Amino acid sequence: MAEPLPLAYFNGAYLPLAEVRISPLDRGFLFGDGVYEVIPAYGGRLFHLTAHLQRLQYSFDGIRLTNPYGVDQWTTLLNGLVQKNGAGDQALYLQVTRGADRGRDHGFPRNVPATVFAMCTPLAKVPAELLAAGARAITLEDLRWRRCDIKSTALLGNVLLRQSAADQNCHEAVLLRDGYATEGTASSLFIVAGGAIITPPKSRDLLPSITRDVILELAAEQRLAHREARIPAAQLRAAEEIWLASSTRELYAVSELDGRKLGRGAPGPIWRQVYDLFQRHKRELAAA
Ligand SMILES: Cc1ncc(COP(=O)(O)O)c(C=O)c1O
Repeated sequence: MAEPLPLAYFNGAYLPLAEVRISPLDRGFLFGDGVYEVIPAYGGRLFHLTAHLQRLQYSFDGIRLTNPYGVDQWTTLLNGLVQKNGAGDQALYLQVTRGADRGRDHGFPRNVPATVFAMCTPLAKVPAELLAAGARAITLEDLRWRRCDIKSTALLGNVLLRQSAADQNCHEAVLLRDGYATEGTASSLFIVAGGAIITPPKSRDLLPSITRDVILELAAEQRLAHREARIPAAQLRAAEEIWLASSTRELYAVSELDGRKLGRGAPGPIWRQVYDLFQRHKRELAAA
């Protein structure tokens, strides 16, 4: 029997993903004029939902779009979507655009409702090979706009940079701006230097990653040396460990940067320790 189609949420209703119809005049389609979130669910429970909804509000404020729903409404509809798709481990994607006007004009439309879309897909396990061997990464100059703190659906810069990494048989690109490493194309960045965990401070140059905040909290709880500090390119290259983190890939180590092995060319001991803390935290929240 064919797999049942996943159920999506679209402008107030749950319906099969294949039945969602979006206007070609939608500003998300025409301009990338929208914001989004990706939230993992473990055991049917959305991971750090409050933090994701706060970041969503920050993105709305950043693009001057009124949030169509309150926190309670979001919570109900997103939890509903996870449950309707069978709970378990899922990746929830949601996007809100500035809606569809009657033509194409850059300026904000008046009295046009936002388009709200959300879907769930099974959360793919982080490949065992990636965890065991670590990732290959390259450094690239960041070519994106100057509001990388907004989780905008306009991702062409990230797409081109990620493809440049893939073209060189790499998993990810670590982005450099004004001589400092900021984040990956779809991940936040950590290094270990002098035994301390370092991640760049939040700024307009990088997305305020939820996984990053969780990792910093876990490091603080365990009294692991850590700090938020800018990472010059030279410090990145000399790092003892480099990690990348995101909602769908959790936390993985980089074992090769720009074709050169890091240390012994395998994930390091501090990564292992924090990875284990992260797994325990996930299990605790799923069972809570
Ligand atoms: C550019 C960028 N930075 C960082 C992240 C990590 O953010 P989070 O931990 O909230 O998934 C992502 C996630 O997709 C991203 O696209």
